[in-house]
Amino acid sequence: MNEELRREILGDPDFSTILEDFERGLEHASSVEEIEELRRAFVSRKGRITELLKRLPTLEPGERRRVGRLGNLLKDYVEKTVARRLSDVREMELRRTLVEEWVDITLPGDPVPRGSLHLITRVIEEIEDIFVGMGYQVVEGPEVELDYYNFEALNTPDWHPSKSLQDTFYLISPYGDYPDLLLRTHTSPVQIRVMESTRPPLYVIAPGKAYRHDVPDATHSIMMHQVEGLAVDEDISFSDLKGTLEYFTRRMFGEEREVRFRPHFFPFTEPSAEVDVSCIMCRGKGCRLCKGSGWLEIMGAGMVDPNVFRNVGYDPEEVTGFAFGMGVERIAMLKYGIPDIRLFYENDVRFLAQF
Ligand code: DAH
Repeated sequence: MNEELRREILGDPDFSTILEDFERGLEHASSVEEIEELRRAFVSRKGRITELLKRLPTLEPGERRRVGRLGNLLKDYVEKTVARRLSDVREMELRRTLVEEWVDITLPGDPVPRGSLHLITRVIEEIEDIFVGMGYQVVEGPEVELDYYNFEALNTPDWHPSKSLQDTFYLISPYGDYPDLLLRTHTSPVQIRVMESTRPPLYVIAPGKAYRHDVPDATHSIMMHQVEGLAVDEDISFSDLKGTLEYFTRRMFGEEREVRFRPHFFPFTEPSAEVDVSCIMCRGKGCRLCKGSGWLEIMGAGMVDPNVFRNVGYDPEEVTGFAFGMGVERIAMLKYGIPDIRLFYENDVRFLAQF
């Protein structure tokens, strides 16, 4: 404000108090909010300068011109001063945040631990890869299964021990029992579901969970994983089964492995066998792992029983087939030297991260 104008304003009692109050207020206003507040007090619609100018119509023409001119000049001065102060304060605040809230974006971030697939998943994928390489398809079935698929269609008689309440989880609740429903005890029912919905030739494997009413220990768990296999075609013979499982076993455990078929009984295959691989620890000489026998059992297998074919509407005179079922945990334990099945389910990262 030039000196002349200042003198003129200071000579008028109304304008001089306004100017002095404004300048004193400005000295104390340090934040954006306080400066805005000050501006409102003087030049808003209810501000002191505005109020003063509202009185113009009541004044003598000469006085009106003087007051009008001074008022507008003062208003102009207040607005320009406030604008300058605001931009100064904003600039200072920006500088302050830049100093105080400084971040070094070149610092490395907090490491986020990277997870990996569970060993059981990995082993299932390994098994799938080997069979997919032989032309098999991967299929799945439900874990809550009908008694019919789990037992009856698989030619399993009512007196079979695995049908008892001691061995199998049936679906029983306070709201009602479902005696026909159970947690499947093996992945074999998927065989039936696939055959019911498809015509041969058929080459499938079915990985998944199975449940048994077992007491947990180093080799038993109420839930474990199996991979079921089924091949149905014209003229499939036991030697096809042997060749397929030998190839699988050597791919899985090493080319130097021997494979042995021991006669056994399963309701859904005839003839049936249990399949052993030469001990991976002692290579057949006999040790603690194989309990001195030199062999480790890895799965059950056999030629599909004609009754099973009849149950799904296949003609056993036209087609033959083989089936097999293996425990994934057991294969993982043998391949990776894991002494206790419970290690898979305890979610101890120190164990899981090793694989
Ligand atoms: N389901 C049998 C089990 O859980 C394993 C098995 C044996 C499956 C022979 C088969 C088979 O398909 O042919 O012990």
